[in-house]
Amino acid sequence: GGVRTPQASSPRFGSSKRGNMVSCGAAKVAVLGAAGGIGQPLSMLVKMLPSVTELSLYDIQGTPGVAADLSHCNTACKVKGYVGDEELAACLEGCDLVIIPAGVPRKPGMTRDDLFNINAGIVKGLAEKCAEICPNAILNIISNPVNSTVPICNEVYKAAGVTGASRRILGVTTLDIVRSNTFLAEECGVDVDEVDVPVIGGHAGITILPLLSQMRPKVSLDPNRIEELTVRIQNAGTEVVEAKAGAGSATLSMAYAAARFAESCLRGLQGDKVYECAYLESNLVDGVGYFASKVQLGPNGCEEIFEVGEVTEFEQAGIDALVPELQKSIAKGEEFAKK
Ligand code: NAD
Ligand code: LMR
Repeated sequence: GGVRTPQASSPRFGSSKRGNMVSCGAAKVAVLGAAGGIGQPLSMLVKMLPSVTELSLYDIQGTPGVAADLSHCNTACKVKGYVGDEELAACLEGCDLVIIPAGVPRKPGMTRDDLFNINAGIVKGLAEKCAEICPNAILNIISNPVNSTVPICNEVYKAAGVTGASRRILGVTTLDIVRSNTFLAEECGVDVDEVDVPVIGGHAGITILPLLSQMRPKVSLDPNRIEELTVRIQNAGTEVVEAKAGAGSATLSMAYAAARFAESCLRGLQGDKVYECAYLESNLVDGVGYFASKVQLGPNGCEEIFEVGEVTEFEQAGIDALVPELQKSIAKGEEFAKK
């Protein structure tokens, strides 16, 4: 599918409701980095999804214990732990969806890009194996810096000769939408279930751009508050990093967001039309080959990418400022992958 303009009654991109919890599929899902701060609660939430019949947990350490623990939960899904390079292929065999939260998190004072030196290599190695063993699976990339790790995965797939994978390689930006919905519901005193804020651009600092003018329900906000709320959303990851004071970054809210996005991907695979925001390769915005956009998920991953739509002057200035930032992060990822 191509780029589509949202209709008058446009879908909700930032508040996908959970499915009806009735299994209508039999998916195999892998979590790579499953013993980590995100990996553990995320694996538990995935174990609770009725459409998942097999859950493979991979890490360089700790997965036998996590898998034994989770396997006692009485949901139908079978859990298995895999540890170390030599077990990765078996973990990935037959996967429909691979979720990747492997890598180091930030400490206070660091940017997400400061994680590049360690995480780029981790993600590259995992993506190489995915391209070989389950090239048709959907990838959900959580490892930071997402603005660079998604381009790395795409380059790895291209080098491996897997064509048309870019619609299946999805950077997870759902936490930005989850935060925006939470903060705006508080701000406006409305039911959080009714709030829908699309967030576009990327997943670091000013590249995170909430489109508050497109928020639903329609509310009138003071321009100063719009600016303050935008900055809070852009810095929300740092807010958690500082509160954790050296013990890492968001894990529980991230697991919650990643589970929602995974469920949306699985519903898409089963033929539902599901709307989310995600960071992926596209030509939507001039000058950048990747952009977090409003998307429709379906059997092939992203089926439609929606145009940014009408924005305010403030939001347009935000887009203009983030493009050069994204360009740098994308180029860095692409160059690394080609080395
Ligand atoms: P963590 O250190 O608690 O866990 C990471 C796990 O990855 C560890 O268990 C580690 O053993 C494992 N790992 C390391 N190398 C590996 C490899 N080669 N293969 C498999 N597993 C490997 O970190 P965390 O808090 O879970 O965060 C993980 C990543 O997610 C970080 O890069 C963090 O910045 C990112 N993150 C992204 C978002 C987002 O919105 N996209 C949100 C929060 C965190
Ligand atoms: C987040 O947004 O919480 C994550 O990207 C982790 C971080 O480093 O802020």
